[in-house]
Amino acid sequence: MTDPAHDADTLRERALTTLTTARARTTLLTSCVEDPDLTAQHSPLMSPLVWDLAHIGNQEEQWLLRTVAGREAMRPEIDGIYDAFEHPRAARPTLPLLPPTEARHYASEVRGRVLDLLESTAFHGTRLTEAAFAFGMIAQHEQQHDETMLITHQLRRGPQALTAPDPEPAPLLTGPSEVLVPGGPFTMGTSTEPWALDNERPAHRREVPPFYIDTTPVTNAAYKAFIEDGGYDDDRWWTPEGWAHIRGNSIHAPLFWRRDGKQWLRRRFGVTEVVPPDEPVLHVCWYEADAYARWAGRRLPTEAEWEKAARHDPAGNRSMRYPWGDDDPGPEHANLGQRHLRPAPAGSYPEGESPLGVRQLIGDVWEWTASDFLPYPGFQAFPYKEYSEVFFGPEYKVLRGGAFAVDAVACRGTFRNWDYPIRRQIFSGFRTARSAGDA
Ligand code: AVJ
Ligand code: FE
Repeated sequence: MTDPAHDADTLRERALTTLTTARARTTLLTSCVEDPDLTAQHSPLMSPLVWDLAHIGNQEEQWLLRTVAGREAMRPEIDGIYDAFEHPRAARPTLPLLPPTEARHYASEVRGRVLDLLESTAFHGTRLTEAAFAFGMIAQHEQQHDETMLITHQLRRGPQALTAPDPEPAPLLTGPSEVLVPGGPFTMGTSTEPWALDNERPAHRREVPPFYIDTTPVTNAAYKAFIEDGGYDDDRWWTPEGWAHIRGNSIHAPLFWRRDGKQWLRRRFGVTEVVPPDEPVLHVCWYEADAYARWAGRRLPTEAEWEKAARHDPAGNRSMRYPWGDDDPGPEHANLGQRHLRPAPAGSYPEGESPLGVRQLIGDVWEWTASDFLPYPGFQAFPYKEYSEVFFGPEYKVLRGGAFAVDAVACRGTFRNWDYPIRRQIFSGFRTARSAGDA
């Protein structure tokens, strides 16, 4: 049986488009500031931008040129420098990194050879070449580092370097603030999405009891009410770890927020502005999201609840690729791909809503879930343990849905992200839920 979507020319075209889109973004993020800003470390949490740039090239060389095509290493001496597991981010500025010009040259040399390889690759025979998986994996890897570099830009002090148009004002939200997701099993994860990464696999049935979930992410205005109600000074709302963390680190508001008399200001990509009330809250850690939910008499959704809200089609009784159906994301569905440098107001993207009317599950802000990052039943590491497997365990919480900083190639209803519960330089927000039957 031939599936037209898997036709070799279609796959070649898709691989080429996604690799090219990723490289255009990498180029923007590494050319909008001068060289000293590429080699500097803007935060101990992040690598110098020039590390990400050469690491992108190095991963592409390792997987596509060496593993798929069997070529010799172009520069074997640099592999160790760009191995994320050999050197923690804080130590990367002291490494003998390729200077910006050399890093650009290396990444573009690799890319030239990869585009030649793409012309001659047959998309079957091995798991890496099947459906052009390794090309898709590398496009996703580059986009993930582009998101990482955008975080570095947000942390960087100094004048604005990036600009983008603002999203449209939100349409008037007339629907309910929460909806009931009926109980029953649904299919979580995927075994058929060709470029899904190992931790999204395999598809499996999950029983999910009935629950209510917010129709939009929690807004700045709602979060501000938690702050003004003394939420950060009341240990009733916090887990013991969360309480110790916010008290020990004097955390009183989302990262990048600053009180100015009666109002809150925030710094966003070099610009200070009044916190917009109707935008999803951004730059909160898991502890803050969890505390807000408890204060609101609610809780974070589990990962399974989140995915059921995002993928379950009650009419067809099946799981879809996205809340709106199976079509790839378009600008009418979701705020993705760094088209904007901020989330869109809560209630945006009516065309992207789920069958039950839940909006902005995809794009805008990563959404913290209640769940630890764990493997699905039947998980198999592929193609390397260091993508997911070494991170499984209770120290990481799962985030879902992607953000304005995430490209569509690295965003699906099944896509899983994870981070430490203290992290908030990431583009993280949340929505809340409650079990049906609760008051
Ligand atoms: C999936 C975002 C947690 O950036 O640490 C990049 C993605 N893995 N290079 C990360 C990743 C290897 C990863 N996250
Ligand atoms: Fe990486």
